[in-house]
Amino acid sequence: MSPSGPPPGGSSWAHGRISGRVVASGESPKAAGGLVGRDEELGHVLALLEAARGGVAGPLVVSGEAGIGKTTLLQAAEELAGGFTCLLAGGVESEAALGHAALLELLSPVRDRLAELPAAQAEALAAALGWGPAGAPGDRYLVAAATLSLLAATAQPAPVLVLVDDLQWVDRESAAALLFAARRLHHDAVAFLFAVRTGSRPPASLEGLPVLALAGLAPGQAAGLLSDRLADPVVARLVERTRGNPLALIEVASRLTPAQQLGAPPPGPPAGGGVAAGHPSPTPGGPPRPRRRSPRGGRPGGSDLGSGRGRRRA
Ligand SMILES: Nc1ncnc2c1ncn2[C@@H]1O[C@H](COP(=O)(O)OP(=O)(O)OP(=O)(O)O)[C@@H](O)[C@H]1O
Ligand SMILES: [Mg+2]
Repeated sequence: MSPSGPPPGGSSWAHGRISGRVVASGESPKAAGGLVGRDEELGHVLALLEAARGGVAGPLVVSGEAGIGKTTLLQAAEELAGGFTCLLAGGVESEAALGHAALLELLSPVRDRLAELPAAQAEALAAALGWGPAGAPGDRYLVAAATLSLLAATAQPAPVLVLVDDLQWVDRESAAALLFAARRLHHDAVAFLFAVRTGSRPPASLEGLPVLALAGLAPGQAAGLLSDRLADPVVARLVERTRGNPLALIEVASRLTPAQQLGAPPPGPPAGGGVAAGHPSPTPGGPPRPRRRSPRGGRPGGSDLGSGRGRRRA
């Protein structure tokens, strides 16, 4: 899956060396943090990281339907970002109206660099994020410029990876400032990864940014996600009915009886047109709707990425 728009530089996926970890072509499944498949997508992520490491900033927008693996890819990127300062934020549906909430989450770990900014920018950002004395809300342009300056300052001496999950729920002020920085930083060691659900309305325009659209997993990759006990035809059927959506695959497979795992048909016709174990009825609008879950301790209605911490990957 190639990102549309400008590619993030030449991929060195074949022999990428990230902080002592040699990543060879075809290493996946389970290449990074239990990630299955996604070789090509990880190649783009690695290229983005390597460019940033070399002092060339760049953004990448990861898009896809619910459960397709956007958060999982961002988590893999964080794992691959050895030596980077990782700054994380995630949109939370119930906080979308709280101006600057995501920016506060993302920039708090580097607040001590504020003194390096021009005074007007530092004051505007401090006012917007509640770091200074209560006053008039910070000028929007100055807040955006300060975000850019703070990220650029943080990128010295170590490169920075900005990870923003669930962009569709990020407040407008934060999204505007982060996208402003992502568009204008060029010669700094900063990589930006934004994840956004397809079909949602992002809080700010993503026009012109390279987009990596995640598709479902192929049967060979899906097998790596599911129990070894599943017969190949069962896996193939699951992939067909879920269109390879990893979350739907995991959920539907978890409801199979031992006999169905081996290919037995369900005991009777599916009731009510729902998902019968292993034999989901055709769903006109797409794959069975996965139930949302937070496998890694994420917040309800928000990102599963860790949050509020600037993490230096060793
Ligand atoms: N490539 C993959 N390898 C292994 N597991 C995966 C992969 N992609 C997704 N998963 C698993 O599928 C589930 C859903 O993935 P994830 O949370 O990343 O989806 P998402 O696109 O972020 O969804 P949402 O839009 O709801 O946030 C998780 O349990 C995750 O561990
Ligand atoms: Mg997600």
